[in-house]
Amino acid sequence: MRIGLIGTGRIGTFHAEVLSRHPAVDSLLVADADPERAAVAATRTGASAVPVDAMFTGEVHGLPDALVICSATAAHAPLIARAARAGLPAFCEKPIALDLPGTLGALAEVEAAGSILQLGFMRRFDAGYAEARAAVREGRLGRLHTVRAVTSDPAPPPADYLPLSGGLYRDCLVHDFDILRWVTGREVSEVYATGSDAGPAMFREAGDVDTAAALLTLDDGTLATATATRCNGAGYDVRMELAGELDQLAVGLDDRTPLTSAEPESPGAPPKPWPGFLERFAPAYEAELDAFLRVARGELANPCDGREALHALRIAEACEISRRERRPVAMEEIPGG
Ligand SMILES: NC(=O)c1ccc[n+]([C@@H]2O[C@H](COP(=O)([O-])OP(=O)(O)OC[C@H]3O[C@@H](n4cnc5c(N)ncnc54)[C@H](O)[C@@H]3O)[C@@H](O)[C@H]2O)c1
Repeated sequence: MRIGLIGTGRIGTFHAEVLSRHPAVDSLLVADADPERAAVAATRTGASAVPVDAMFTGEVHGLPDALVICSATAAHAPLIARAARAGLPAFCEKPIALDLPGTLGALAEVEAAGSILQLGFMRRFDAGYAEARAAVREGRLGRLHTVRAVTSDPAPPPADYLPLSGGLYRDCLVHDFDILRWVTGREVSEVYATGSDAGPAMFREAGDVDTAAALLTLDDGTLATATATRCNGAGYDVRMELAGELDQLAVGLDDRTPLTSAEPESPGAPPKPWPGFLERFAPAYEAELDAFLRVARGELANPCDGREALHALRIAEACEISRRERRPVAMEEIPGG
């Protein structure tokens, strides 16, 4: 297959490396608004650097069979729309857009064209989350009553990233909201969220929070909490605990979890805690792109379409309103459901 990739920053270069090693990829084209960046990624991965427009016109090396969009978030919706109009199956990193109108507009383009859009919620391809989903569906935990989701980044992002990020709920907890729906198979009916900006001043200055907590009530009465922080010096910590009437299960609890037991006979701090998402989710990122190539070839049903991303964003929107207005927010209040 000839695959095009747009946006050769941090995650785009990682995805380009994965694609360059994939046996189904015969040729890889990369593009970036900054041609220097595309050239560096091309050298690193053996790809050909082309202008962004060439991905849609086929100039230079012909049209790709499928497109992987990893640009900065603001460019996702326009690139999704261009891919839809050009009839190109597209994989796009989350999110489609930072707001509901932008998300709904891009989805309308995709649906009008009848084209493929897969979103990059890679946790759906993580072995631990897949096992948790199977356990819930097979009834191994009994009636699920409590879910606890955690996402802790080891250090804050650069200050200039914050105004573009959409805030902690849309940028970070959106992964927890997606995986909560996917693992439990339930919809969120109400959220109650708060946040704290007591950490580094750049969060206050950006109107964002460095730490957040959300209480989510699912439509079957299961209660979930989701917490996130940008300031977890112990390492990158992504976990989910599921508790039911019969049993409990933890995702992300292993010898690299950056968590130390305070008990006297415990093994102590993990020697090699997870440093970041690229290391923790490397196999999941590979599996999601492998799935996308199969989706683009018509061999697999889309594992995470644009409507799924819309639902996760709606939950993040509800959390922002809840934090701002200091009240529970019913999901019916949020458009696009
Ligand atoms: N799923 C995940 O775990 C995950 C992880 C990291 C980032 N992301 C998402 O991936 C996206 C990129 O994040 P990043 O950390 O790699 O950012 P980055 O800043 O490192 O890279 C973004 C790249 O996009 C390019 N770009 C900007 N506008 C463009 C345009 N109009 N056309 C073409 N290229 C353009 C920039 O020049 C830059 O090279 C973000 O939307 C982010 O939310 C997802």
